[in-house]
Amino acid sequence: MRTLDGTTSLVTGASRGIGRAIAKRLAADGSLVAVHYGTNESAAEETVAQITEAGGAAFAVGVPLGAADAADRLWAGLEAGLAERGVPGGIDVLVNNAAIGGATPTLASARQDDFDELFAINVKAPFFVVQRGVDLLRDGGRIVNVSSVASRIAIPDTLAYAMTKGAINTFSVTLAQELGARGITVNAVMPGTTATEANAAWFDAQPALHEAVTGLSALRRVGKPEDVADVVAFLASPAARWVTGQVIDASGGAHLGFSSARVRRRKRDCLIYGVRRAGGKLARRRRGPPAVSVGRPGNDKAHDGPSRSGGVRERSQREVLPGSRRVPG
Ligand SMILES: NC(=O)c1ccc[n+]([C@@H]2O[C@H](COP(=O)([O-])OP(=O)(O)OC[C@H]3O[C@@H](n4cnc5c(N)ncnc54)[C@H](OP(=O)(O)O)[C@@H]3O)[C@@H](O)[C@H]2O)c1
Repeated sequence: MRTLDGTTSLVTGASRGIGRAIAKRLAADGSLVAVHYGTNESAAEETVAQITEAGGAAFAVGVPLGAADAADRLWAGLEAGLAERGVPGGIDVLVNNAAIGGATPTLASARQDDFDELFAINVKAPFFVVQRGVDLLRDGGRIVNVSSVASRIAIPDTLAYAMTKGAINTFSVTLAQELGARGITVNAVMPGTTATEANAAWFDAQPALHEAVTGLSALRRVGKPEDVADVVAFLASPAARWVTGQVIDASGGAHLGFSSARVRRRKRDCLIYGVRRAGGKLARRRRGPPAVSVGRPGNDKAHDGPSRSGGVRERSQREVLPGSRRVPG
């Protein structure tokens, strides 16, 4: 017996990326999955084909989200798909995953129509999908909303997008309170940067970017759609019956802080500079910033080779002097 045998799920934006991985995983757990897409029908049919080839059951429902009648059309399409298969109406798991965005618009670049479109697809659509479908969601069911780690950190380049995901977090927590009496759990899942079909070319073209994103994660790699799908599948499963109103990070620990190796290296640099400045005695940071600069006078550049004083790689004085605001830890 699989965890979702006999259940029905709707995953929005399941034609590609994280949504596809979620649809495949819920189907592998036994659910009949409605694979929603906006315009890319062939990609949605590919998701359905991958599910059926693996022994699961799925069908595609295409409705562009954002328009006023989108939620009505989505649920009508879902009910028609269930009826065609002789399956009773109603669903057990709703995953609001479809979204647009990422890098725009910023405070400087935002135009009102772009902003409106972002909020229409990322916020208004899931709100009205739930409003229209809440009576079709069976008691004891699950709602999982896909948020983003962008909503817990400050990245000006993703300002408006991050705001939409902040709204999704609030939506999830509040909805959990409202639907809890019916035994329905509502949670949000926050992926970090995740390698999908859409951004594969972007990563391939910029290895340095891939490396930089890897370095931002405590687990030292870029996320895979399946990493997120597994968390969603847990929340959809009976094992998560006591988890609701939570915003759950599924980013591999993105943006948690500095690596301890880097902090240790910086602290060691501070100590060595402090000892040198104090003529051999330990200069503690609480004694305050140095009155005079150290190192090579007039040379404020980083040095790559080992120093004469014992193999430590020197860096910019501004970067390593005790008391500098640039020194972490
Ligand atoms: N990938 C990441 O690095 C990342 C990081 C954090 C959070 N997330 C979140 O994870 C979720 C999935 O992201 P993803 O990168 O997997 O997305 P993706 O690969 O760009 O796929 C987007 C999906 O949403 C559908 N969609 C987009 N706009 C739509 C619209 N107006 N109406 C109906 N469907 C629409 C697309 O359908 P079509 O195929 O028909 O266009 C597609 O199925 C999103 O909520 C995103 O914000 C992603």
